[in-house]
Amino acid sequence: MTGATRSGPLVRAVAPGRVNLIGDHTDYTGGYVLPMALDMATTVEGRRGGGLVHLVSAGEEAAALVPLSPTGAPVKDPPWARFVSGVVSALRPTEGLTGTVTTTLPVGAGLSSSSSLTVALCLALGAPGEPRQLALTAQRAEQAGSGVPGGIMDQLCASAAIAGHALLIDCRDLHVDPVALPEEAEVVVAHSGLSRRLSESAYAVRRGQCEAAEDLVGPLRDASEADVATIADPVLRRRARHVVSENRRVLDAAAAMRRGDLDAAGTLMTDSHRSLRDDFDVSVPELDRAVDALLAVPGVTGARLTGAGFGGCVVALAHRGTMAAHGADLGLRWWVVTPAGGATVEVLDRLD
Ligand code: GLA
Repeated sequence: MTGATRSGPLVRAVAPGRVNLIGDHTDYTGGYVLPMALDMATTVEGRRGGGLVHLVSAGEEAAALVPLSPTGAPVKDPPWARFVSGVVSALRPTEGLTGTVTTTLPVGAGLSSSSSLTVALCLALGAPGEPRQLALTAQRAEQAGSGVPGGIMDQLCASAAIAGHALLIDCRDLHVDPVALPEEAEVVVAHSGLSRRLSESAYAVRRGQCEAAEDLVGPLRDASEADVATIADPVLRRRARHVVSENRRVLDAAAAMRRGDLDAAGTLMTDSHRSLRDDFDVSVPELDRAVDALLAVPGVTGARLTGAGFGGCVVALAHRGTMAAHGADLGLRWWVVTPAGGATVEVLDRLD
């Protein structure tokens, strides 16, 4: 059938990774987050047509081959094909795609390389570009592909990002409020050296604990510290305390960014790390050491783990020029990143 199939247009879709400045493990209880898109991205380029998504990736030995058939079982092999399969089942495209995937993102670093793949692939397969709708489709795809009940932050950041800005996202109604990064700010991403093991069970367990806390005190988004204090179970109380305090820190950090107060924003980021470490239990020694190493650099105002935790990267806020002056001494792999715009798709030709 494929040989006889009319070819559709050649398309190229690009979606960025993200770093979350503050607000982790808040999205799936409808809280606040403040991510920014990275100038590192995944590109899906290919020709639409046929009844199959057939992609090769520079970083993967085996191709992903996923039939569009709605009755087909999820494709699990090679492992990266799970995300392709997830997109096909979430989007149900009417025509396939034959092409390539390339990325400038480090994989397994907690910078949302998988969300950048699912968002780019949704666009390449013809998904509508409205950011919320696109993000919700990509989220369903990623949950199906990874088996992790992830929130909406990564896909919505990749879809809705605005160059030069972080996004204050209200994960209850998906309202996105751009926050300009102060001219004086430098955002640093550093790899802890430990490849992220987004332990599927640990993420799902944390999410389940938040839901158990909500059964006791109602939505954490609306809960007060006094409500949290009524939770008898010490573990659930700490989990809830993180979420409630983190939502407050996100709003305070966005306000501090808007007035250009890097010291206040940085302090909130460091407080966030302590809360994720002590109350939410998602840090590991490598992340704590990377945070401490960044906090020791003159000019850095705050640092924290970013994303789910358990390894991968940390993020720091600094005064401009900090890493040029002191980065050589850090002893970690690092990048100074600037906030990029959101995902795009272009039709490169219309041959058929
Ligand atoms: C992962 C998930 C996000 C979010 C973060 C933690 O990146 O994909 O939805 O929950 O963890 O903030």
